Order: sequence, then C-alpha cells, then structure tokens
Amino acid sequence: MFDKDAYPHLAEIVDTLVSIWPEHTRFLEKSFSERDITLMSSTEQRAATILAMVGRNNIPEYCRDYRTLCNMLEDEELYFRRHGAYRLKYFEDAVAEVYSNKAFMNSYMNFIALSYVLWTNHARAMAHFEENYIPNIRLGSHHLEIGPGHGLLLYIATKASNVASVTGWDVSAASIAQTKKCLASLGVTKPVTLVLQNLFDAPDEGGRSPRFDSVVLSEVLEHLEDPVSALRAVSRHMAENGRIWINVPINSPAPDHIYLLRSTEEAVDLVATSGFKIIEHDFFPITGTSLKRARQWNLTISAVITAEKI
Ligand SMILES: C[S@@+](CC[C@H](N)C(=O)[O-])C[C@H]1O[C@@H](n2cnc3c(N)ncnc32)[C@H](O)[C@@H]1O
Repeated sequence: MFDKDAYPHLAEIVDTLVSIWPEHTRFLEKSFSERDITLMSSTEQRAATILAMVGRNNIPEYCRDYRTLCNMLEDEELYFRRHGAYRLKYFEDAVAEVYSNKAFMNSYMNFIALSYVLWTNHARAMAHFEENYIPNIRLGSHHLEIGPGHGLLLYIATKASNVASVTGWDVSAASIAQTKKCLASLGVTKPVTLVLQNLFDAPDEGGRSPRFDSVVLSEVLEHLEDPVSALRAVSRHMAENGRIWINVPINSPAPDHIYLLRSTEEAVDLVATSGFKIIEHDFFPITGTSLKRARQWNLTISAVITAEKI
C-alpha cells in the first residue's frame, strides 16, 4: 500500500484499521496511491499527532468508530441519491440527533479525526490549512475556530508563531470536551479559550475584547440552515481585512448535514455574497475520483476557500 518504514505512524493506524475492517483495504490503497511524497509526509505527521492525541491503546476504538460512521454515511448517501436532498432539514434536528448526544458525538469526532489521514480530500484540506493558510495570516493574529470538534485544526493554530491568541466556539459540549482533551494530550501550553457557543448568539463585546484576525469554519457551514447569515454573523467579530478559511463539502450527505451545496461555484458564491473578498479557492474531490468526474456525477468535493472581510 505504501512504504511502512517511511511512514511508521500511518502504518500503525492503517494496520489496526485493516485488522478491524479488511474490506476497506482497496479504498485505502486507492487513497494513498493518489498522494505525492509531500502529501504523504504531511499525512505521516498528522498520523503521529493523532497517535499522540489518542494514545496507542485507543486506536482500535477510533478505528471501530470510523467503520461505524462510514457505514452510516453509506446510508445517508443512499437517501441522497434517491431523494436528491439531505435527510435533515433543520438545525434543531441535528442538535437532537447529533450534537446533544455525547456518545454519538464522541464517535463522530473520532471518525472525522481519522478521516484527515485516510481520505484524500480531507488530507489535502488539512495540508492546505497548515501550509498555505496559517503561514499567511498576519503576525500577532487573534485566531478563532468555530466548531473545532476533534481539535486537530485548532492544535495547528496553537503551534504557529504568528498566532497570538486562540479561541474555539462550539455548540456541542461533547465537542468542546474533545477539543480540550486533544490540546491537553498534545501538551499545548499556549492559553486557549474554549466556549460553549452557538455562532449566531456570540455576544458583541463592544470593543472590549480583540476582534479576530483569522477565523476558521471547517465542515460547519453545511450544518446550518442559513450559512449566509452565519458568515455575516461571524464577520461582525472579525478585524478589518481579517481572513477566513472555509472548508465546506459539496454533495456530501452525513447524519447532521442540512445545507446542500450542489457545486463548487455555489460554495464560492456563497462566501462572496456574505461580505467577503475571495483570495483563493481549491477543490479536492473524494478519494478515487478526479475533479472532473466528481463534478459530472455530483460526488463529494471539499471546497477550501480563503477570503478576506471587506
Ligand atoms: C463536523 S464537525 C467539524 C469539526 C472540525 N472543524 C473539522 O473540520 O473536522 C462540526 C462542528 O461544528 C459544530 N457546530 C455546528 N453548528 C454550530 C453552530 N451553530 N455554532 C457553533 N458550532 C457549531 C458541531 O458541534 C461540531 O463540533
């Protein structure tokens, strides 16, 4: 599948997963064959971070959660193909079914954390965040992530020398607990403010606290009924010319996805009409397909958009 001596942390995760779910081997082979050396190196680095965060003994549990959630995604995919729509329509249903269910939320976040090494589109998105976005935000940035969940992206921000402060808001108490656990197990010493907070209800501090120079919304907009209002609400907490990094999947059914984006153009337009100037965008198709084919067949594409507050 890949040189296990060159990528030992990745090999440890993959070997455990294959022992639990041998039928997934072909998908994994495809996924790693799509990556060049640079992406394999960043994947290996991510795998090492996940092993340190999770602890070796807990990897089998993460792999079981990954398998369970992949099976659930197949059911959601079936619904999507039959109805041309996501199953859930309202945020309160997602809260009831997912965000308030601590056990499910934990499994869900474990699954997503592993997907950042196992899925090509997620691996590319995270590499983009670490290598393209974070180094280019201004020195002394106050950085906010909305919906940090497993905490891997927030962890990357804590390590950056151009980031002065790090804040996370999440509507789910289980997610906040996971983010906290992630940062503690990775030995983060930089102070991080984590708040149980729906992004729509965040109080305006009236200039008492610094506005954010950098905001991340990764895999969050598709969870909302009205992403345009969400982006406008978030922009009120941003400094002039502050930057936002958005990772939003199109045609991507999941147990808590509500807002269906059908094309990459629609994703970019959404951001551009919400008070932001687009700086760049990149589109990463799901494992095993080209961008052209993903567009043709309405398959999942991760749209990664960097924009600036106007
Ligand atoms: C799928 S997870 C994304 C985790 C991580 N950011 C990533 O990219 O993998 C979505 C997260 O957004 C949070 N979330 C959803 N709606 C939210 C809202 N209105 N305000 C704050 N957080 C929200 C969920 O609780 C969850 O932790």
